[in-house]
Order: sequence, then structure tokens, then C-alpha cells
Amino acid sequence: MPPSTLDPRVAFPATPADSARLDAGTAPAHPLALLSDWIEGVVARDAVEPFYVTLATASADGVPSSRTVQLLDVEEDALLFTTNFGSRKGVEMRATGRAAVSLYWRETAQSVNVTGRVVEADDAECDARFAEEARGVQVSRTVSFHGLPLDDEAEQLGRFSALMASDEPVERPEYWRWFRIVPDAVTFWEGNPEALNRRLHYAWHDGAWTHGAIQA
Ligand SMILES: Cc1cc2nc3c(=O)[nH]c(=O)nc-3n(C[C@H](O)[C@H](O)[C@H](O)COP(=O)(O)O)c2cc1C
Repeated sequence: MPPSTLDPRVAFPATPADSARLDAGTAPAHPLALLSDWIEGVVARDAVEPFYVTLATASADGVPSSRTVQLLDVEEDALLFTTNFGSRKGVEMRATGRAAVSLYWRETAQSVNVTGRVVEADDAECDARFAEEARGVQVSRTVSFHGLPLDDEAEQLGRFSALMASDEPVERPEYWRWFRIVPDAVTFWEGNPEALNRRLHYAWHDGAWTHGAIQA
């Protein structure tokens, strides 16, 4: 086999000893409580861009796709995101009602995979959140539509500049919305190049979370 052009020395580091260690015996009953603990630890280490995560969706006939998005919040029972629901991911989330998210932080050699139900925020919440955005963000979301062909960039930039220069409030386009992923399975992973990596899997069954260690 020809040698890989990727440098094999760029291995993941160990999860630092003072980071939370995965332990099925002491882990919280709710996986998002553990995710919040981990995020606290990641932020304390000044992680670079800790909230850019991979969001995976699938079409109704099972073709998968993924992309980077920003995790906006970890709530008690859900993860919060925003997107254009006319985009590929938006159409697919509406078709299947499901999505998956992967997070990885190199600073702590920790990773979390979440799958769950997609729940769209209602119009009132979307309007309120849109109103809080910076004008440049509001205008970008108005003049740019994920995935459509870019036939005339100058025309698009013209609309961007005109809206930026105006004093009129920017209305939320119907397609721009916030949504939550309500998890039904969450797997935590931590790395240990000296010994075995660890994983802890949470599953939602009959109205309750169960969890246990699984092989990594
Ligand atoms: C760092 C980063 C953050 C991003 N955050 C978001 C986001 O929060 N929401 C979003 O819809 N797209 C976000 N994007 C753009 C998406 O990766 C993607 O290009 C876009 O949403 C269209 O995806 P789709 O055509 O697969 O639906 C981000 C991209 C990057 C690189």
C-alpha cells in the first residue's frame, strides 16, 4: 500500500486527568447534564471554536449528508440550532423529523454523538431570536439562500448593501428558523492513547434514560 500523505504523528491527545472521567457509576442520569459538564471543562481550557459541530441528516430515501453548524445552547432536554429550512438539511429534517450531531474537542480529547428528534421553534420564538441578531447577520440571511445557484453575485451584493444602508427593520424570512434536537441516544467518548479509550452510551426508553459503558 502506498504511504498515507496524512501525518500519523498527529494523534489525538489524552483526556486530561483533571477533566471529568467517564464513569458509568457516577455519571448523571441525564446525558445533557453530562454534556453541560463537559462543555464547562472545554470552555475552561479555552478551546478553539468549541461550538462548531457536525450536523448530519438523511433524505427520506436514506441518502446521508453532513455539514458544520453552530451549537447555540444546551438546554435541559434539547440542543438549540438555527438554519434555513429550505436548505438541504432543513428539507431533510422536515422529511424525516430526525438528525444527528457530532462534537469533538481536541483540547480534552472528548467527543459526543447525539441522535434525536427535530422540533422546530414556533414563529414567535423565531421572530424574537431573529430580532436579536446583528443587522449584518439578518441581512445575510435575507439575501442569501443556502444551496441556490449563485448566478449574479454583484446583484446579491447590491441587495446586501442596500439593506445594510437602510434604517428599516429587517423582517425574518419565513425559511430562517431555530430548531431543537431532542436526543434519544447520546454517546460520550474520551481518548486515552496509553490505554483503552472509554465510551458511555445513553438511551431513551419508555420515558426514561438508561446508561452504561460500551467498548470503545
Ligand atoms: C464554522 C461554521 C459555522 C456554521 N454555522 C451554521 C449554522 O449555525 N447554521 C447553518 O445553517 N449553517 C451554518 N454554516 C454553514 C453550513 O455548514 C452549510 O454550508 C449550510 O448550512 C448549507 O448546508 P446544507 O446545504 O447542507 O443544508 C456554518 C459553516 C461553518 C463553516
